[in-house]
Amino acid sequence: MTRKNTGTWYILFILTASCLLLRELRPVACYDLISGPLAPCTERFCQPPACRCPSPNPPNNLNPSAVPQMVIVSFDLAVTAYVASFFEQLFPIDIINPNGCPIAATFFVPDQERTDYNAVRQLYARGHEIASNSQSRRQPPLWWNSASYLDYVYEIYGQRINLETGTDIPEGKITGMRVPYLQPGGNNMYRMLRDYNFTYDSSMVTGPTSAHNYAVFPPFYPFTLDIPPNNTLCDIYPSNCPNASYPGLWEIPINRMYGTDGQGCAMMDDCKVTTSDDTFNVLLAQFFSEYYNRKRAPYGLYFQGKWLENNQAFDGLKRFIRYINKMDDVFFVTSSQVIEWMKQPTPLSQINSFAPWRSNSGLCGEKK
Ligand SMILES: *[C@@H]1O[C@H](CO)[C@@H](O)[C@H](O)[C@H]1NC(C)=O
Ligand SMILES: *[C@@H]1O[C@H](CO)[C@@H](O)[C@H](O)[C@H]1NC(C)=O
Ligand SMILES: *[C@@H]1O[C@H](CO)[C@@H](O)[C@H](O)[C@H]1NC(C)=O
Repeated sequence: MTRKNTGTWYILFILTASCLLLRELRPVACYDLISGPLAPCTERFCQPPACRCPSPNPPNNLNPSAVPQMVIVSFDLAVTAYVASFFEQLFPIDIINPNGCPIAATFFVPDQERTDYNAVRQLYARGHEIASNSQSRRQPPLWWNSASYLDYVYEIYGQRINLETGTDIPEGKITGMRVPYLQPGGNNMYRMLRDYNFTYDSSMVTGPTSAHNYAVFPPFYPFTLDIPPNNTLCDIYPSNCPNASYPGLWEIPINRMYGTDGQGCAMMDDCKVTTSDDTFNVLLAQFFSEYYNRKRAPYGLYFQGKWLENNQAFDGLKRFIRYINKMDDVFFVTSSQVIEWMKQPTPLSQINSFAPWRSNSGLCGEKK
């Protein structure tokens, strides 16, 4: 071995050794240098607001009874005047959160299929969140699984520009995405999100596909992608999940719901329910048994366009919303508001003055 080689080996040895040491101290630092089994996310080095490990437990060791039960309602579909009017029926202006602000949802809006930017503007003015779904929402679904970095820039960042120019939503207010057909595009997609200053993604489906059992796999709170998620947290076939580190980029996982047949479904469109009563009962049972009476992970209701055609389920959903809206610790908030809470976990006793949930304060009044 030449002198030069010895030096190289020596440096390599020092690098590996210090990296192994560092990894213990700061798991993210060495992620890109060491391949092989991932260091699990350790809460010692991953704390809000910058970081959050995947977990079914509330942040900052809050007692679940002190956690406001967040409910995320979201739609990924072209927003037309028809969709907006349908939505008015579901969430009339007089349905308000316990803090006096109107209940709010998140719309992941594609450009295609006649999106009406006037209707989008009105939803935003009502306090709903607008996020990017894509420019083309193209088929086949698997295209999104293997799309390139530049495809993602065009589709997702491009749609953010469309939304900002087509409405008067200020720059910096469109901060999230959901990939069409829930087919994440691996590092290409998440690298684009990081490079273009997005705050969060909400595309990863998780939870058992059937026979759900809280003890075996509880719903997860949102987490950051400092450590790449394993295939349990990013569970869709054939998956293309990120395997690099994206510090501070948030993921709002789609915890599977279950239809009356016990089968898991990511989107309500795919949950088997037959009647309005069915829908009401199945939503309510899961709400209490897996969320409200447990660790209070945010409860997600996710819809695509197909669902709007099922009017029976519509009545059941309406009843369900009104039922849980009567509780004084249940809040229908936007995806961004959920992340703000995750960064700054605020107990129920102080929630009425939590500023990010009063951002549209002109719309807030007293709870009736
Ligand atoms: C992202 O944010 C940085 C820092 O605020 C800014 O310099 C950059 O121009 C932003 N990039 C985009 C694409 O918005
Ligand atoms: C995946 O990660 C989650 C969160 O860290 C963990 O609870 C779960 O056990 C992991 N699953 C596997 C199969 O390792
Ligand atoms: C990440 O995934 C890509 C594509 O699947 C693969 O080529 C690469 O080796 C992986 N990197 C790591 C660190 O596992």
